[in-house]
Amino acid sequence: MISKDISELDISLLLEAIFQKYGYDFRQYSQAHIRRRIINRMVLSGLEDISDIQSNVLNDEAFASKLFQDLSITVTEMFRDPCFYKSLRENVIPVLKTYPFIKIWHAGCSTGEEAYSMSILMQEEGLYNRTIIYATDFNQHALNKAKEGIFSNKMMKEYTANYQLSGGKESFSKYYTSNYDSVIMNQSLKKNIVWANHNLVTDSVFAEIHIILCRNVLIYFNNDLQNKVQSLFYESLINGGILCLGSKESLCFSNLSEEYSEMDKNQKIFKKKYIENEL
Ligand SMILES: C[S@@+](CC[C@H](N)C(=O)[O-])C[C@H]1O[C@@H](n2cnc3c(N)ncnc32)[C@H](O)[C@@H]1O
Repeated sequence: MISKDISELDISLLLEAIFQKYGYDFRQYSQAHIRRRIINRMVLSGLEDISDIQSNVLNDEAFASKLFQDLSITVTEMFRDPCFYKSLRENVIPVLKTYPFIKIWHAGCSTGEEAYSMSILMQEEGLYNRTIIYATDFNQHALNKAKEGIFSNKMMKEYTANYQLSGGKESFSKYYTSNYDSVIMNQSLKKNIVWANHNLVTDSVFAEIHIILCRNVLIYFNNDLQNKVQSLFYESLINGGILCLGSKESLCFSNLSEEYSEMDKNQKIFKKKYIENEL
């Protein structure tokens, strides 16, 4: 039986220990999220007390690695929230078409489905050859899978439906090759994607980005950390650059909310206002 009274102090001490020993900083993640994931790991590992998890994390790197995977939550899909991609096609692509080259940053790209979706979209809009997509995450396991571009065949029915709902007009199967129970994404989709390990909490800005997509990531951070990461995005975006958040995320409580205008309120697409006097 797991002791239910895991205190905030217990959690803080555990997160501090993880940070000191491994450099992963979960100290400003939402307490509710961290608590759920810790309890889940305790159940799976048959541990009854928070002190057991503390000593396992500190003395067993394989256990610590499992806990990082639990805490990072890599759930994702292709053309996730198809209406969002439809809005990208209708409202954002016309803006991107005005640039001679386009830098896109997927922050928290997980296993890459979002970046492959963007590659498809940019190919279909005739923009891929002038696009570079930075796809970053702090979870190296997820990034390795993303780079391979091999996904389960079982997901393709759902992804095809998402693609069609997003306004895709081709046959989705032209973007991959089936191989038994997997599919391999076409090499041409990977050509302009740069995969990189980047931690939003501890690493620095990417320069001169035209559009940042950070969807379903900030939801796991507390308000202070959300504000910190929003500053990173603001610094990374060009004037008039575009910021896309997840369906449950918002700029409302951000210190920078006044610095953006809404392009599509429902789909959480925002445009950085032009700063006067900037060259
Ligand atoms: C739920 S997934 C979202 C994936 C994708 N953006 C989507 O919407 O489908 C959240 C991702 O954020 C990543 N993440 C969490 N904290 C991070 C951090 N501090 N720096 C970089 N990535 C982080 C996780 O590893 C995970 O892959």
